[in-house]
Amino acid sequence: MSEELKIPSHIAIIMDGNGRWAKKRFQPRAFGHKAGAERLEDVSRWADELGVKYLTVYAFSTENWNRPFEEVTTLMNLLRMYMKKKLADAKKNNLVIRMIGDRSKLDKDIILKIEEIEEVTKFNTGLHLQIALNYGGRDEIVRAVKKLANDVENNKLKATDVEEKMLESYLDTKEIPDPELLIRTSGEMRLSNYLLWQLAYTEFYFTDVLWPDFNKEELMNAIYFFNKRDRRFGGL
Ligand code: IPE
Ligand code: IPE
Ligand code: MG
Repeated sequence: MSEELKIPSHIAIIMDGNGRWAKKRFQPRAFGHKAGAERLEDVSRWADELGVKYLTVYAFSTENWNRPFEEVTTLMNLLRMYMKKKLADAKKNNLVIRMIGDRSKLDKDIILKIEEIEEVTKFNTGLHLQIALNYGGRDEIVRAVKKLANDVENNKLKATDVEEKMLESYLDTKEIPDPELLIRTSGEMRLSNYLLWQLAYTEFYFTDVLWPDFNKEELMNAIYFFNKRDRRFGGL
């Protein structure tokens, strides 16, 4: 082996294609979402084993409210089940779990569960898993700017003090380094409002594989791709 494999310390994933995966099997979309949730469990375990420090996954966008009520309900119920499971084995799986996105619009019981899971897992030492829920990159920036403007209004800071690092500290991802690698499954090549600020210098990997079919080999392919990139950050 000529050179050691670099493992990205932060991987972001747009888990897409659950609906198409189910359709191919003549099953309802909910069937695909359930399989997708199971895949997330595997992928977070593999990422942790590989030495990835942060994994940020897109579970529900600010635009996904436009889906039929029935599908939104299915997704929220899956989230409830997922959190229950993660709470039950919080010690064993060792994950630090956090939610990014505007949680104020979620059902009260979900908000409470999110607070509980963040509290219970915060001293774990394994992978930091960020779940983007009712998340939109533009919405995140608007919420950050609102908070910042409020601090200016209250004389906590001056408009002339504002710089990149400061704005970052108002984002949902404060204290989390930017992703080094973005993976989107299902063949779509767009960001769909994901981590607009944070992906400024991220390497993008797109695969046709549908999310419920994403396996360890696929994850390794994304990491090999990352290893071939020459990250210049504007330099030479
Ligand atoms: C991704 O799968 C999961 C969510 C957006 C919640 P989709 O539900 O978007 O599946 P496709 O894109 O319709 O196949
Ligand atoms: C992006 O997927 C959001 C999630 C994976 C949660 P979508 O399926 O909602 O994105 P579009 O509509 O194809 O852009
Ligand atoms: Mg989709």
